Amino acid sequence: MAAPVHKGEELELSIESLAYGGNGVARHDGFVVFVRGGLPGDRVRARVTKVKRGFAEGFASTVLEPGPDRVEAPCRHFGTCGGCRFQDLAYDMQLEQKAQQVRDALVRIGRIADPPLEPIVPATSIYGYRNKLEYSFTAGEEEVELGFHRAGRWDEVIGIEECLLTTDVGNAIRLAVRDWAREEGLEPYDQTTGKGYLRHLVVREGRNTGQALVVLVTGPGERFEAGYVVDVLRRFPEVRSIHWAINDTPAEQTNLPTKLLWGGEAIEEEILGLRFRVRPSAFLQTNTEMAEQLYSLARDFAGLTGTENVFDLYCGTGTIGLALAPDASSVWGLEISEEAVACAIENAELNGIENAQFFAGNVGQTLEELAEKAGTADVVVVDPPRAGLAGKALRRTGALAARRIVYVSCNPTTLASDVQVLRDDYGYTLVRCRPVDMFPHTPHVESVSLLTRDS
Ligand SMILES: C[S@@+](CC[C@H](N)C(=O)[O-])C[C@H]1O[C@@H](n2cnc3c(N)ncnc32)[C@H](O)[C@@H]1O
Repeated sequence: MAAPVHKGEELELSIESLAYGGNGVARHDGFVVFVRGGLPGDRVRARVTKVKRGFAEGFASTVLEPGPDRVEAPCRHFGTCGGCRFQDLAYDMQLEQKAQQVRDALVRIGRIADPPLEPIVPATSIYGYRNKLEYSFTAGEEEVELGFHRAGRWDEVIGIEECLLTTDVGNAIRLAVRDWAREEGLEPYDQTTGKGYLRHLVVREGRNTGQALVVLVTGPGERFEAGYVVDVLRRFPEVRSIHWAINDTPAEQTNLPTKLLWGGEAIEEEILGLRFRVRPSAFLQTNTEMAEQLYSLARDFAGLTGTENVFDLYCGTGTIGLALAPDASSVWGLEISEEAVACAIENAELNGIENAQFFAGNVGQTLEELAEKAGTADVVVVDPPRAGLAGKALRRTGALAARRIVYVSCNPTTLASDVQVLRDDYGYTLVRCRPVDMFPHTPHVESVSLLTRDS
């Protein structure tokens, strides 16, 4: 059957819900249209931009009648800034939609008629929750600005006066660095021409320790007086570590080797009573408060009694494994980034944890090797990137035949397809799934699931 809509067509649509990824879902003669900018309950005029076999995509050009859950977005940059998408949707509705996305994925992709879904864990703080932000320098109309990409644009950055996702200190540090750049007359990098010097600013905060780390990213060459920018930043007692990184490629990146300009190499964050070293590029969940809740759930679902051999796959800097170690016999972490593994080993030492070991390797390729060394896994915790376990990693995780798999997911669609394979090919049952909102006002949704199998 031909699609009942065509590219460029304008339609009047009622938005029913939000799909995973954040677009509104509407139907035109039963045909699904994903509408960017449409919120549940809205009546919109939408322009169709793409037509595929089973659905179309478009954007809301006009909101004809706002839905009942639309609210005033508190941020002055909302709409132009690419950071938050749903500040204008009541938080309760954001939660309802995210929980529904996890349910839909498990039903549709996981083929579980009635998923054992538990209520979504709301974020403790819906603003000011991030412990890390990366800003870009740009040429403003008159002066250098420092901020985020304009919504929907990779090549345009807007200056930010106040970001509601960071703290007062985070905002003040960004403004101080912007003012320093203006005073020094340094030229911002231009993504389209590849010219200019100042590129990014990364600010990381240990939210439970009050320590901050700053990385200034520039193009090649030392065109500023390091002592002066250090003086500017040292006005903030929270700043304990100041780094400089050079990016000599056109790619926008901040994960670069750094030179320490002042202070300690790293700062620390505290999660569930454990201390973690935060280096410039080390991965750490960017919402500390909710990382504590996510890891507590993983610990709860693992159901440890002190005798278990636990595998922590995709372990990053060891956060989950170390949180579980006191209740386990031993913990074996596996992670692809050598830098993260070095941090995990350091974090184990920092916390005096002696029953956790961490190894560098690709889960798909090295899990069998780990299992030979570590012996039978009783509990396997996985926390993969958005692509999920996929391919060999999924089959080898299933083949471990652990009694419990605790699946920490940042993508319900890959979670659902992995759960289906673990059920159909390896005899697992999904017994619990609890969505967690780590990132209010964004389309992201995390979840923690428990799969068990009878041995
Ligand atoms: C979502 S993070 C989880 C990190 C950690 N569990 C935490 O909460 O901080 C996913 C991690 O998987 C790692 N990773 C990605 N692909 C991998 C692979 N094929 N094998 C092992 N680790 C991988 C990434 O480097 C990253 O540290």
